[in-house]
Amino acid sequence: MCGIIGYIGSRQATPLLIGGLRKLEYRGYDSAGVSVFNDGMSRVVRCRGKLGNLEEKLKAEPAPGTVGIGHTRWATHGRPSDENSHPHKVGPVSVIHNGIIENHLQLRSELVASGSQFSSETDTEIFAHLVERQLVDGAPDLTTAVRRALLKVRGSYAFVVMSDKEPGTLVAAKNSSPLVVGLGEGENFVASDVTAILSETRKVIFIEEGELVTVTRDSVQITDFEGKPKQREPKIITWSAVQAEKGGFKHFMLKEIHEQPRAVADTLVGRVDLEGDDVRLDGVELDVKNIKRIIFIACGTSYHASMVGEFLVESLARIPVEVDLASEFRYRDPIVGPGDLVVAVSQSGETLDTMEAIREAKKKGATVLAISNVVESSIPRLADHAFYTHAGPEIGVASTKAFTTQLIGIALLAIYLGRRTNALSRERARTLLAELVQIPNKMRDVVEQGAHLQVLARRYGNATGFLFLGRGAQYPIALEGALKLKEISYIHAEGYAAGEMKHGPIALIDDQLPVVVLVPKGPSYEKTVSNLAEVRARQGKVLAIATRGDNEIGGHSDDVVLVPDTALELQPMLTVLPLQMLSYYVADQKGTDVDQPRNLAKSVTVE
Ligand code: F6R
Repeated sequence: MCGIIGYIGSRQATPLLIGGLRKLEYRGYDSAGVSVFNDGMSRVVRCRGKLGNLEEKLKAEPAPGTVGIGHTRWATHGRPSDENSHPHKVGPVSVIHNGIIENHLQLRSELVASGSQFSSETDTEIFAHLVERQLVDGAPDLTTAVRRALLKVRGSYAFVVMSDKEPGTLVAAKNSSPLVVGLGEGENFVASDVTAILSETRKVIFIEEGELVTVTRDSVQITDFEGKPKQREPKIITWSAVQAEKGGFKHFMLKEIHEQPRAVADTLVGRVDLEGDDVRLDGVELDVKNIKRIIFIACGTSYHASMVGEFLVESLARIPVEVDLASEFRYRDPIVGPGDLVVAVSQSGETLDTMEAIREAKKKGATVLAISNVVESSIPRLADHAFYTHAGPEIGVASTKAFTTQLIGIALLAIYLGRRTNALSRERARTLLAELVQIPNKMRDVVEQGAHLQVLARRYGNATGFLFLGRGAQYPIALEGALKLKEISYIHAEGYAAGEMKHGPIALIDDQLPVVVLVPKGPSYEKTVSNLAEVRARQGKVLAIATRGDNEIGGHSDDVVLVPDTALELQPMLTVLPLQMLSYYVADQKGTDVDQPRNLAKSVTVE
C-alpha cells in the first residue's frame, strides 16, 4: 500500500524523507508529498505522479526544517490528484495515513454538518479534522488529541500526525497497517517499513496492533489506545536492504501470499453491512431489475476469478452468466447489448485485450462495471461503473493476492445482485456475510502451513507434469493452480473439470503424474472422491486439498492439505492458497526467477 516516513532530529528533514520514500518506490504509488515544520508553521508540498515531480516542486517551493513527514500514496478513496495526495493539513495538524477508514462516510457527514470544509475526496482528511477538533476542544497535547480522535475511527490504519502547536513531537498509531520506529542519536524516525530507514538506522521498535507512539528527538513512548504505557526493547535489523523490501521473505511472491489475509480484510472494509444484511459497493448503483445477463470478461488469473464469478452470481442472484476471455470476446462479433452487464476484471486495469473488449461491449450498448486493483487506471476509467480491490501493489508477476481479492470483490457483487433480485434471502445473505468476514482468519490458518507445503514440493517437485482437478467453483481453482505452476516453475500442468477426466486426460495417468484434487466438503464431494479413486487405480499420485475434519480423505489420497470449513461459495478463497504455495515452493526448489518468470510481464499492454 502507501509508504510512510517521519523524521524528527537536527538534520534537514526533506532529503531524508525523499530518500526514505525512494526506498519504498518499488511498492508502486501514484502521488507523493511532505509536510515539514519550520519557523512556527509546517509547509505541505505534494503532487500527483512520481517522486521526481515532487522534487521538482520542492525546488520551486523548498521545505526546510528538521521535523517532517512524507508519504507515497496508492489511491484507495479518491482518484490520484494533487488535492488527494498526503499529507493532509487542517489548521495546525498534518496527517499521513496508510489503510482505510471504514466509517468515513458517516464521519465525513458529521464533520460537514458541524461546519468542517473538506479539500479532498480522501478518507484521510477526516482524521486531520478529527485531531484538529480535539485540539480546539481542549486536548492538552497532540498525543491526547490523536488518542481521542482514534476512538471515533474504525478501519485499518497507520497514521503519523504532526502539529504546528507542538513541533517537537510526532504521534503515530497502528491498527493492522505496519508501523516501525527507527532510533538514532538525537533523532528518530517513523516508517511503514524498515526499508525506508535502513540506511539511517538499524535499531528499530516494531509498533503493535492498537498502539500509539509519541516520538521526540530523544524519546519514544508507546501506549495502548487507553494511554496505558507499554515497554518494548528495540531490535537490531540484520536484513540487507533487498531482504527488507521483501519484508524478510525470500521473494515478493511469498510475501504477497502471506499478505492475503490483510489484503482480503482491506477489500472487505466498509463494504459489508452486517446490520442491513447487504453490501455497499463504494456508491455503485446498478439497475439490477433490468439486467438480463452478465458477461464477465478478463484474461489469465482474472479470467479464473471471473469463472468463479459465474458460479457465485448464478447461484446467489440467479442471473444468467457468461464468462469470456477478453481476447476472444473482442474478435467474435459478440452478441451483446442493452440489458447486458459486462463485468471487466483486471488487476492492473491496463490489459489491452480487456480494454478493447470493453470498447466493443460499450459500442454495442452494454453497461460495463470494472473490478480493478488500480484506482483511475484505464479500465475503470473506460467503464460506466467501477469498484476496487484493495490488494495494494502486487509486485510478483504471478498473481496471488490480486486473485483472492478479486474473488472477494466478485462475492460482494454476487451478494449485492442477489439481494436486489431477491434470489438471495436476508437470512442466507446474513450467513454468507458472517462467513465472509471470517475469511481473513481462515486464510491465515492456511498460509501458516508453509512447512507442510515445502515438504510436498520436495516430494512432487521433480515431476515433469501435473494435473489439477476440481468440480463446480473448484474447477477454475484447478485452472489457476495449473497456471501458477506453469508460470513460475515452467513445469507443464493442466487444469481439468474432474468430471471430464474420463473423457481424455485419464490417459496421462501413471505413477509419475502427481494429480492435485480439490475436494472440499460439498455437494460434489462424493463424485470427486470417485475421480480420485480412478486416479489411484492407475497408480497416479494424489494430493488432495480437503476440508479440515474430513477423516475419510486420507484413505483415498497419498497426501492431504486441509483448509478450514466455510460456505460452499467461499471455498475457492481458501483452496487456492495451498496451490499458490505449492507452486511457489516447487519453483523455489528449482531455482527459477520466481518474481519475474521468463517471458512474462506484469501488465500486458499489447495484443
Ligand atoms: C497470472 C497473471 C496474468 C494476469 C493477466 C491479466 O499470474 O498475473 O495471467 O492475470 O495478464 O492481468 P490483469 O488482471 O492485470 O488484467
